[in-house]
Amino acid sequence: MPKLIIDDREIEVPKGTKVIDAAEKLGIMIPRFCYHPALGSVGACRVCAVKFLEGRVKGIQMSCMIDAEDGMVVSTIDEEAVAFRKRVIELLMINHPHDCPVCDEGGHCLLQDLTVSGGHGLRFYKGNKKTHIDQDLGPLVQHEMNRCIKCYRCSRFYQEYCGYYDLGVMQIGSRVYYGRFRDGVLESPFAGNLSDVCPTGVYTDKPARYKGRRWDFERTPSVCIHCGLGCLTTASARYRAVVRQEAAFSETTNGHFICDRGRFGFYYASDSDRPRQAGIDGRQASLEAALESAKTKIDEIVERHGRKAVAWAGSPRNSLETMAALHQAGQGNSGTFVSLFPSERASKNAKAAVLRLNKNLGVSLKEIESADFILAVGADPVNEAPMLALAMRQAWRKGAFVAAIDPRPVNLPFEFQHLAVPQPALASATASLVKPLSAAKANEKLTELCSAIIDKGKDCPDFETALSEIRKRLEKANRPVIVCGTDIVDVCAINLAANAAELLSADKDAGLFYTLTGPNSFAAGLIENQKVSFETILAGIEGEEIKALILTETDPFVSFHDRKRLVSAFEKLELLVAIDYLDSEAAKKANIFLPSETVFEIGGVFVNQEGRARYFMPALKKGISIEQAGRGSHPPRVFDARPAGADLLPAWRMVSILGGAGEQVSTKGASEIVGSLRDKAPGLAGLPARNAIPREGHTVLSMPGETGTQGAVDNPDPIEDVPPGNRICVLTVENTFGTEELSSLSRCLQGLAKKASAVMHPETMESLGLVEGDRIAIGPEENAAVAPVVADKRTAPGTIVLPRLTGFQWRVFERSPAFVEKKAIRKVN
Ligand code: SF4
Ligand code: FES
Repeated sequence: MPKLIIDDREIEVPKGTKVIDAAEKLGIMIPRFCYHPALGSVGACRVCAVKFLEGRVKGIQMSCMIDAEDGMVVSTIDEEAVAFRKRVIELLMINHPHDCPVCDEGGHCLLQDLTVSGGHGLRFYKGNKKTHIDQDLGPLVQHEMNRCIKCYRCSRFYQEYCGYYDLGVMQIGSRVYYGRFRDGVLESPFAGNLSDVCPTGVYTDKPARYKGRRWDFERTPSVCIHCGLGCLTTASARYRAVVRQEAAFSETTNGHFICDRGRFGFYYASDSDRPRQAGIDGRQASLEAALESAKTKIDEIVERHGRKAVAWAGSPRNSLETMAALHQAGQGNSGTFVSLFPSERASKNAKAAVLRLNKNLGVSLKEIESADFILAVGADPVNEAPMLALAMRQAWRKGAFVAAIDPRPVNLPFEFQHLAVPQPALASATASLVKPLSAAKANEKLTELCSAIIDKGKDCPDFETALSEIRKRLEKANRPVIVCGTDIVDVCAINLAANAAELLSADKDAGLFYTLTGPNSFAAGLIENQKVSFETILAGIEGEEIKALILTETDPFVSFHDRKRLVSAFEKLELLVAIDYLDSEAAKKANIFLPSETVFEIGGVFVNQEGRARYFMPALKKGISIEQAGRGSHPPRVFDARPAGADLLPAWRMVSILGGAGEQVSTKGASEIVGSLRDKAPGLAGLPARNAIPREGHTVLSMPGETGTQGAVDNPDPIEDVPPGNRICVLTVENTFGTEELSSLSRCLQGLAKKASAVMHPETMESLGLVEGDRIAIGPEENAAVAPVVADKRTAPGTIVLPRLTGFQWRVFERSPAFVEKKAIRKVN
């Protein structure tokens, strides 16, 4: 490890450390524009100049370009170095507009900070400033090219780090321009990071324009809840509204960046349509009156029909506190039904993943970047857990081989081998890769099924060749990681992924990474009673054993496939209570509606898909935002001790009151409620109080054998279930934008949602007598999903892929997979 001296202080750093980073370790921040720890060095801006006094390197040099060496003596405050850096700033400011007072970057602009701290104030150059025409880059990123200092951070981030190429650097010399070839929406779902990586205000957060300066905001460390990864963020609030969300650094998950769903998905919290008024039978009521009425009715039902007549449904968007309260409500009323997943299938899959992940096998998102082989089974990273795609890309950039076994036409921002395996054969295909199946017959069937649809390109002449290529790469790998989805796969594939990772770990440093379908699915999987599901509750309502249902931050009309069944079951209820912060259909149908606080107001613990519990701190005080209260004019004259729209309570507190835990529990803090779960899972026993959870999280994973069930690698599900000739497998799937419940409410993201389409292989299309562009209706006559046909030869045979877009009728099918008769697919041109 080289030892060097910087500003008279000695430091020892790992080999390969740049001098700029060595200095930072000593707390010395050398100015930088182009250098970024995730993007590396290019030496473009020249502002990190320092003087090398002793050692092999001598004189003024760029500290971001030089590796620390033994015996180096470096000065960052040498007069010559300081003068050099000042001159660089002066040159950069020759063309930079003096628009700090109106620039949205003002207050967190690196150029502004360094100009001020370097003492530059007067411009001696008499020429005109060079100007450029800005571009419209879509709804998320504002472009102001005049502010550019040519540091290349944007193009390096966009192209090298993310793998998208519609934005970059063009022209030469003094005409250098960063942008797109022409105006247009940025294609990358990570484009919002441009506003973080740009050291000036060329790219700024468009929806947050004119909302305030950094010093105006209440800035709070936060966590993203728009998928299961739980990336770290910083939430900025002003005037009782969250106005901006940025990436926060996490060394275990998201590194320096987040996806655009996470960055811009928060607008539901201060949406003007957010329900803030409690209601009883459609009439407005105070929250206190509505809670009391709900409690009285629940008590009456319990008295008449017993405790089992009251059921509770939560969802993976509940905080751990709310789940704990629901669990307590169910336990207190032994035999009471509590479900935390929207369907039995979602519940089974998440529980299987939770059971199989353990401290030995689980890898973090960051660890994926060091894998040398990644096999993704039934996982579509860009659409299901966007930052996973970036982590996989970093591994690929370092030479990892990536393969995806998936019936969907998966897109990843790098080269990978895709095997379009039909959904029912996912488990078998995985098994045949890791260990040739003992059931040779099954293998033959798999080969036969898949060979028809594999691209006959040079890299993949046929299915067997493709498989053996992947197998060869796997054999050579030292750090393979199996990534397994839990949305479209069956429990068998989930178990097989774990078995495969276990098998590989015998002689390799193998890892396992599941994606889960909601922000708190891991916690729900740990907590939920094995035998109860939402379907159990529905059956109980239909059988008239359940008379009251309390929906807690869940809307079955969004998540459950059979609307007709829901409507008729709900009609049988004596009491439907909805606790939510969303204006959901269930909330509208409820006899009693109780508005709850969002995580931005109350905070909460969420456990990500790696089993990492993180605390979401409150970011603002509750109440309607001043902008909405004033409706563009002066503040309203509402004389109340509390702001308007603040008659809300945390969901967990309301559940505690309704569940009969009584005031004693309901007045306890959130940490005590969570404490009630400590005996539920070995990992939760050591969960610290929520304020004491470290920023990188507290892992609730167990050691192998503590909770896991061992599946058998030799016995994957048989593949007889592959749809025979007259049936089609309909997969309803997630998209990056437009399918996730909360972010779909962000108006700035709505225009980015892809249009609904029915994607299928050309041969499937042909077998159905369709051509591209035909509109088809799938499902029952009166209630069918209607979408245009799109051909994609990367789709598995006998499969139709439909997005679960809000506003698109996909709920005629069970969440993936659903098997429909070919005759149920009709042309409706
Ligand atoms: Fe949020 Fe998931 Fe995006 Fe991370 S990858 S920012 S958790 S939506
Ligand atoms: Fe070193 Fe730009 S930060 S040259």
